[in-house]
Amino acid sequence: MNRNRLALLGEEAAECVRQSEVASFVEELRGFTWDGKPTVEETTTAAFDGQPIAVPQLVNEFWTSRQRAAHSLHEISYRACFKPQLPRFFIERLTAPGDRVFDPFSGRGTTALEAALLGRLPVACDINPLSRMLLEPRLSPPSLPEIIERLHEIAWSSEADTTDDLLVFYHPDTLRQISALRGYFFRREASGDLDRIDRWLRMVAVNRLTGHSPGFFSVYTLPPNQAVSLDAQAKINVQRGQTPPQRDVARLIVGKSKSLLRDLDEQARRGLARVGSAAQLVTRPAASTPEISSESVDLVVTSPPFLDVVDYAGDNWLRGWFCGIDPNKVQITMAKRPEQWHDAMRDVFLELFRILRPGRFVAFEVGEVRGGKIRLEEIVVPSAMGAGFEPRVVLVNSQQFTKTANCWGVANNRKGTNTNRIVLLQKPNA
Ligand SMILES: C[S@@+](CC[C@H](N)C(=O)[O-])C[C@H]1O[C@@H](n2cnc3c(N)ncnc32)[C@H](O)[C@@H]1O
Repeated sequence: MNRNRLALLGEEAAECVRQSEVASFVEELRGFTWDGKPTVEETTTAAFDGQPIAVPQLVNEFWTSRQRAAHSLHEISYRACFKPQLPRFFIERLTAPGDRVFDPFSGRGTTALEAALLGRLPVACDINPLSRMLLEPRLSPPSLPEIIERLHEIAWSSEADTTDDLLVFYHPDTLRQISALRGYFFRREASGDLDRIDRWLRMVAVNRLTGHSPGFFSVYTLPPNQAVSLDAQAKINVQRGQTPPQRDVARLIVGKSKSLLRDLDEQARRGLARVGSAAQLVTRPAASTPEISSESVDLVVTSPPFLDVVDYAGDNWLRGWFCGIDPNKVQITMAKRPEQWHDAMRDVFLELFRILRPGRFVAFEVGEVRGGKIRLEEIVVPSAMGAGFEPRVVLVNSQQFTKTANCWGVANNRKGTNTNRIVLLQKPNA
C-alpha cells in the first residue's frame, strides 16, 4: 500500500492497513523457504524499563548473492559495508516507487544506491565526508567516453604536493601521477569547477589507491578498505621482498569504470537520472540531521558502527589524504561499553523518530560482536523503545560467509560479525 492510497483513508483505517502490512510481512517471513530450509522461529529477549520484552526472531537465509546478483555499480569497497541484497529485501517489501529511503550511517551508500536503482528517492547521512564522495557520483554516472575524455585533459606530469613517505606504497612515477590527480581535484574544487565527471574519477581513484592486485595503484598491501600504516607497509614489503611497481593510473581508472558501469543499461541510467537528482545527502552526526524534514522518510535501512569494532578513521587515512579529509576531525561514534552504545543509538533513534512518517519502519542491522558475547539486538530493542519505537521482529540472516563474500575482510567468525541481525522497528501512529 503506498502513501497516496493511505492518505485517502481515514487515520483509523490507515492504521488497520499498516497493522495488516506488518502482519503479512512477518507471515511472509515465517513461510519463507530457501534451498528447502524453512524459517526457524525463536525469541529475542530484552528488557525495557525493568520489564522483559519478547520479540519474535526469525532465522533463515533471507537474502544472499545466490538468490540475486547485485548491480555492478555497488562494487566499491568499504569497511563493514553490507550487501545490496539486504536493503533490497526491505525496500521492495516496505516501500513503493517514489518513497524516500534513508540511511543515517550510509558508508559507501549501499542503501541509497539500491533505493535509487529501485526507483525510490535516496536520503543518506554519514559523519565522514568520504561517504558522500563515494555515493554521489554513482547516482549520476558519466559515460565511458566522458571519463576517457576527461582523463586526457589532466596534466599528469604537473608539479604537485606530495610526500615521499608514500613511496612504501607507490613507484615514484605512480606517486607523481596520483599527486597530479589529487592536485587537479583540489584546484577544481577550490574554483567551483568540480563536476560529476571529476567526482566519478575521484571516487574510482579512491578505490584504486591500495589493494592486493595489479588492478590497484599500490604494491601488494591489505584490501583497499583497510590502509595499513606506513611502518606496517614497510614491513610487508620486506617480508614479501617487494618494491612498488610502476602503474598507469589513468588506465586503471578506465578499467574500474568499465567494470562499475557494466550493468548500467539505458533504462537504468534514465531511472537513476530521475531519482538521483532528488537525492538528499548530508554529512552530519546521525543524531542531528536538521536538513531532513520531520515525517519526510518512508523507510530507514541502516547499519551503525558496532561498539568500537571497526576503526573507520584509521582504515581510511590514505583515502582521507587523497580527498583532503583530516580523519582526526571526523567524530566517528566509537562506544567501548554497551551502555555508551545504547545511549548513542538512543539519540539516533530519537532523530529517526522525528523524520520518519508515522506507521513506517526502521530496519536496523547489527552483528554479533565480541565472539557472540554481546548481542547488540538486545541493546537495540530498549534503546529504540526509549525513543518511542515498537519492536516488531528480529530477522537473522544465517548466511555462510565466504572470504570473498565477506565485506569485513576477515575469513573467520572471531573478528567482526558472522550473521546479519536486523531489528525491525515501527513508529506507531500518533
Ligand atoms: C557499518 S558502517 C555502514 C556501512 C554501510 N551500511 C555500507 O553498506 O557501506 C557505519 C558507518 O557509520 C559512520 N558513522 C560513525 N559514526 C557516525 C555518526 N555518529 N553519525 C553518522 N555516521 C557515523 C561511519 O563513518 C561508517 O561509514
